[in-house]
Amino acid sequence: MDAGGQGTTATRLRASGSVFAEEEAEVLRAAARDADELEAMTRRREAGEFLEQVVGEVEVMGERLVVAPGVFVPRQRTALLIGEAVREARARRAPRVLEMCAGAAPVAALVARSVPGARVHAADVDDAALAVARQNLPAGAVLHLGDGWAALPPGERFDVIAAVPPYVPRDRLALMPREAREHEPTAALLGGEDGLDHVRTLFAGAADRLARRGVLLLELHHGQCRAAAEVARATGRLGAVDQVLGADDGTAVLRVRDPAGNLIPIQQPAD
Ligand SMILES: C[S@@+](CC[C@H](N)C(=O)[O-])C[C@H]1O[C@@H](n2cnc3c(N)ncnc32)[C@H](O)[C@@H]1O
Repeated sequence: MDAGGQGTTATRLRASGSVFAEEEAEVLRAAARDADELEAMTRRREAGEFLEQVVGEVEVMGERLVVAPGVFVPRQRTALLIGEAVREARARRAPRVLEMCAGAAPVAALVARSVPGARVHAADVDDAALAVARQNLPAGAVLHLGDGWAALPPGERFDVIAAVPPYVPRDRLALMPREAREHEPTAALLGGEDGLDHVRTLFAGAADRLARRGVLLLELHHGQCRAAAEVARATGRLGAVDQVLGADDGTAVLRVRDPAGNLIPIQQPAD
């Protein structure tokens, strides 16, 4: 099956700028139920929509997650954060795990699927994102709609809190790939002038949301970690900070501990 009449799917995708046109054409052909649907999908991809939004799913760490138009598409780089969240959750009995700024909830979903006994929560300000998260999470997961920490019931605390906050600095937004700029909400990407607006908000309330010996994990660009660690330290209410670096794409995970979990001295992550 191929998109009829206007050249092969791969040729059309290549002409519209796709670097992996053959592979993408194969994905579309496998996803489409008939020629009409393949044509519709091909047009959406030609118009610059994410391939994942067009076919409605993304594979992360071998797990399939539902995605949808208008909702941030989980990135492969987030495997670093997911790996750390799973490790922290496994180190605890019946851990309470929250994904803040959850979007499609890749962290909460992968923790729920790989850590027996984990009780997962997901919070986001966007109800369209939570509708997608719902499809990726088990029935017992708890969803919270609202702005930052205000989404959560008073007094609720967590052993592991993970987030991919919007962390793109304002002057980098125009440099994002077209599919992100045109097909993801700006509010899911932009973190203010230096990219750290949401990080400041998260650190300001984290001490009231972490359980004893709990841990907060944030995905950031490694160039932001030093400034973010200073924000955490300046709250005076959070404990040791360290960072885990990704392979070579600039992704980092900043880990901030509840003060009771200060097993390592407070330190500035190196560049
Ligand atoms: C970069 S996306 C990350 C989504 C998901 N964690 C992932 O990795 O695929 C950031 C998410 O933060 C949400 N968000 C933006 N501002 C927020 C706020 N003030 N409170 C809660 N969530 C917010 C957006 O709706 C978006 O889903």
